[in-house]
Amino acid sequence: MRQPIIAGNWKMNGSLESIRALVAGLKSGIGEVNVAEMAVCPPAAYLAEVSALVAGTDIALGGQDLSNAASGAYTGEVAGSMLNDFNCKYVIVGHSERRNIRGESDELVAEKFKAAQDAGITPILCVGELLEEREEGVTEAVCARQIDAVINAYGVAALENSIIAYEPVWAIGTGKTASPEQAQEVHAFIRAHVGKQDQAVADGLRIQYGGSMNAGNAADLLAQPDIDGGLIGGASLKAEDFLAIGRAAG
Ligand code: PGA
Repeated sequence: MRQPIIAGNWKMNGSLESIRALVAGLKSGIGEVNVAEMAVCPPAAYLAEVSALVAGTDIALGGQDLSNAASGAYTGEVAGSMLNDFNCKYVIVGHSERRNIRGESDELVAEKFKAAQDAGITPILCVGELLEEREEGVTEAVCARQIDAVINAYGVAALENSIIAYEPVWAIGTGKTASPEQAQEVHAFIRAHVGKQDQAVADGLRIQYGGSMNAGNAADLLAQPDIDGGLIGGASLKAEDFLAIGRAAG
């Protein structure tokens, strides 16, 4: 049984004041959630603050992105070792906003995935199709291509210490959630695709769903056999909403 992990992707939202209040709210309700782990991924500028606030609690910390390089002349970038200094357990790589707005390639995302693991951090590899790709019927091919970029470069064993987040781009921030059946179908495909190379890795792989998950739809999504958690944007910005998703699991 893969107990669900839910992670809040706060994107580029909040202020020092609002983030302090959000973490305080999460701390007061964390005891009531039914998930294996609840993580928060604040903007990089607030990692030090949030790291101190969640120290000693059951709330894990994650970054939203990292550099593919370990150190050096990369103005503006954040290295995995720096995330590690602030006890980040997770880091999101290949979020669709980085792929589609910042033009990150499958290969660059794979390098970031490896850079995270090299720094001792579990990457959350985001995959998922655009609306036009779903309409063209290439959802599975897109997800396979994005995952194969990692497998081809570093081997299927690299997926052992990672999480995959299936995030259909048309469902992100739109209020249009994939139905539990639609999401389950792609999650099962992803697991089978990895299983063609290594069944044990596929069986152990946590695959989170992301895309307008909220307190109302989380229970049905998380009840699907291949949905092992959530990557939650909008609904993770209010403590009560995010906690309600954690309570809806299990
Ligand atoms: P959303 O974002 O929950 O606001 O749709 C999810 C994500 O982008 O990770």
